[in-house]
Amino acid sequence: MKKVKWGIIGCGGIADRRMIPGMLESDSLEIVAVMDTNFDAANRVKEKCGAKYAFSTIEELLEIAEIEAVYIATPVFCHLEQVKKAAKAQKHILLEKPLGLNSAEAEEIKNICEKEGVLLGVGFMMRYASYHQKLKELIENGVLGEVVSARAQFTCWYPEMENCWRQNKELSGGGALMDLGIHQIDIIHYVTGLKAKEVCAFCGNQIFKYGVEDAGSILMRLSNGAMCYIDSNFNVPDSASVSKLEIYGTKGCACLYNTLSQEDGGKFELILSDDSASYDAMQERKAEKTEKIEVEFGNLYTKEAESFGLAIMGNNVNFAKADDGIYAQKITDAAYKSVLEKRFIEV
Ligand SMILES: NC(=O)c1ccc[n+]([C@@H]2O[C@H](COP(=O)([O-])OP(=O)(O)OC[C@H]3O[C@@H](n4cnc5c(N)ncnc54)[C@H](O)[C@@H]3O)[C@@H](O)[C@H]2O)c1
Repeated sequence: MKKVKWGIIGCGGIADRRMIPGMLESDSLEIVAVMDTNFDAANRVKEKCGAKYAFSTIEELLEIAEIEAVYIATPVFCHLEQVKKAAKAQKHILLEKPLGLNSAEAEEIKNICEKEGVLLGVGFMMRYASYHQKLKELIENGVLGEVVSARAQFTCWYPEMENCWRQNKELSGGGALMDLGIHQIDIIHYVTGLKAKEVCAFCGNQIFKYGVEDAGSILMRLSNGAMCYIDSNFNVPDSASVSKLEIYGTKGCACLYNTLSQEDGGKFELILSDDSASYDAMQERKAEKTEKIEVEFGNLYTKEAESFGLAIMGNNVNFAKADDGIYAQKITDAAYKSVLEKRFIEV
């Protein structure tokens, strides 16, 4: 089998902890070179993954002709310039979320890749969660009926740290909504196929006083009229962080716990109803109808890298594309605007 040859740009948290181990589980790719401005980090990761080269500049990595694709996992403020260079060097690009500091930058990134004729994928790895794929299939097959409400909660503990790019709005584009909320926005769009038409939001700093919000909530009206609610927190201890994704429809609901995560897993409860046509003044809850959905789990990052590799080889595969990344950022832009202007924003 032909192996897709990859270069890694940025050897920090997510690359080292998740993507590279995920890539190493795959037989269909090879990591040829790694690069980080911190050369020690690049060298350490090179040893871990058996790459041929470690570099401290992007130019050196992009000169390696055999590299077909790069995975960019650097702070958000670096993305645009790195995409310009990688696309010019004719490398396909799997870029970590969010694409850019805002939707305008995300659009620019898309245009650059289109102009250079390279593929651009967005690091929305949660799309590969087995339960999210199952949920999408159920909704597409009409099992939940018409979607009337969608909710997602995603939290973690992110205390103040010195020189932390994610806690500086100019370097990250935003806080909890930008970092966590963007996955929630994307997953609701992915599983329901619905986009928001109207957005309003709250965000602020309750526990941590850094330069981005430590929590945010977004309320959206989706294109079919359904209401959607997202809350994202940097101020809930990891041990108490239970992620939730709930989709309610006219025929039932799906409740997923801990599927918004860097690992495939969690729990999925499906409750279906056959009595929505008649009115029941007792509003009886038939909890015994709850069905636990079982699936086989895998590695989100292996699947993400393999799908992008298949697309590079010309296969018609589903992966998160530029427009998906731009859509999610239009929503975060609208949420921040809503907070500033204290009003609903049309998207
Ligand atoms: N999809 C996910 O699961 C997920 C999870 C976490 C982070 N992310 C995204 O991944 C990206 C990186 O986040 P992180 O948490 O790994 O950050 P990080 O700070 O842990 O690591 C970033 C790395 O990039 C390096 N770096 C900084 N400037 C660079 C440059 N100009 N060129 C090359 N390397 C440079 C740093 O030395 C560091 O090693 C962000 O876009 C973030 O939003 C995605």
